[in-house]
Amino acid sequence: MIHLTFALLLLYYYSHISLRLAQRGLHDQVLSITPKTQEQVDVLKNVSTQYETALWQPASPQFIKEETQVHLFVPANSSETVKDLLQTHAITHEVLLANANELIEMQTRNDSGDPRSSTTFYERYHSLEDVYDWINRTQQDNPSTVKTILIGSSSEKRPLYVLKLSLNNRPDKKAMWIDCGIHAREWIAPAFCLWFVQYSLGFYRQNQDITHILDNMDVYVLPVMNPDGYQYTWTTNRMWRKNRSVSKSSGCIGVDLNRNFDANWCTEGASNEPCSEIYCGEFPESEPESQAVADFLRSHKDSVQFYLSIHSYSQMLLFPYSCTLEEVENHRVLFEMAEEAAQKIRRYYKNTYKYGAGAKTIYLAPGGSDDWAYKLGIKYSFTFELQDRGRYGFLLPPSHISRACNEALIAVKTIALRVVEKT
Ligand code: ARG
Ligand code: ZN
Repeated sequence: MIHLTFALLLLYYYSHISLRLAQRGLHDQVLSITPKTQEQVDVLKNVSTQYETALWQPASPQFIKEETQVHLFVPANSSETVKDLLQTHAITHEVLLANANELIEMQTRNDSGDPRSSTTFYERYHSLEDVYDWINRTQQDNPSTVKTILIGSSSEKRPLYVLKLSLNNRPDKKAMWIDCGIHAREWIAPAFCLWFVQYSLGFYRQNQDITHILDNMDVYVLPVMNPDGYQYTWTTNRMWRKNRSVSKSSGCIGVDLNRNFDANWCTEGASNEPCSEIYCGEFPESEPESQAVADFLRSHKDSVQFYLSIHSYSQMLLFPYSCTLEEVENHRVLFEMAEEAAQKIRRYYKNTYKYGAGAKTIYLAPGGSDDWAYKLGIKYSFTFELQDRGRYGFLLPPSHISRACNEALIAVKTIALRVVEKT
């Protein structure tokens, strides 16, 4: 009873605050800021670490530099302070999103019960629980072609399920791997994994490309690689990136799973500071999520020839290396595959994707799953950064899911067809 009273009080208190903030015309916002001088760079680094904000781009304050756009999520309660600070230092900003709350609300709304709603299951974002249900249903509805494989569990002990799509009877099986949602706040990623599975099962023998791919390859899909973080973005903090393991030394929470793999682990571009957004963890594969994926791929490396990891946002088709500026031995081949995929997206969807080796296209980022998979021997290894380029960022509205997924799908098909051809 005491608990309930307390909870109600808290609820009252918070609804009161947000009401007051809203009355003053304040909302959670996303600002775009381009620092022009070193002093402005330092102010921005300071703002993004000292105040209650979430840096959207770049991934960590250390990458903020002159003449490069910074995207900063600013909650209503620090909005005035932050804007004053910017003004004091003559830093101009643009408002990318004036009312992020409204967008967040839109993304979690479940209008499936509404018969007037025309959006399908795949054009909405889904809670972790819904994704688990979907995995179950997908397997039950396709008993001869879909299997679920439990590859491990998260740090908070949630299961990590991989769907195996197997539509051919080739004796010498080839396979591709797709994981989605390494980073919790990139909601379009799990949405893509669901989209891809649905498309594969629905369009086999309807669409020529997917038929040819599935006739030659099995597909392993891990829809949510970071379930703890994903759950946390639904319940508590929409901007969470890392997993949810607790660092004993600092009390800070979360390892960046895409810095936790054994590929020049924790060198420049990662941080050994547990409170950082790009914390590499205590040692390579210290996290159960990355270890589960690595173990699975190690034991399937003879069949898996194509590795793909789905992220957002910025619209890029990346391949190794990200952990060094060196070129991989098959750089030319990977470059041409990415180029062809980007051209298809441009032709069919009039949308631009950058492509290239990770380190040269964005920044040095060691310990990534794509580089690790490449070094393991999976020579066709890619990371896709899906829509958009910053307009909505991580808060891509549900109405954009179908286009974002369809353009990524065309890129996956293009590259998979090439891989089939070459292996
Ligand atoms: N935005 C992604 C990240 O920061 C980029 C991934 C590119 N690949 C990589 N191995 N870092 O993790
Ligand atoms: Zn990411």
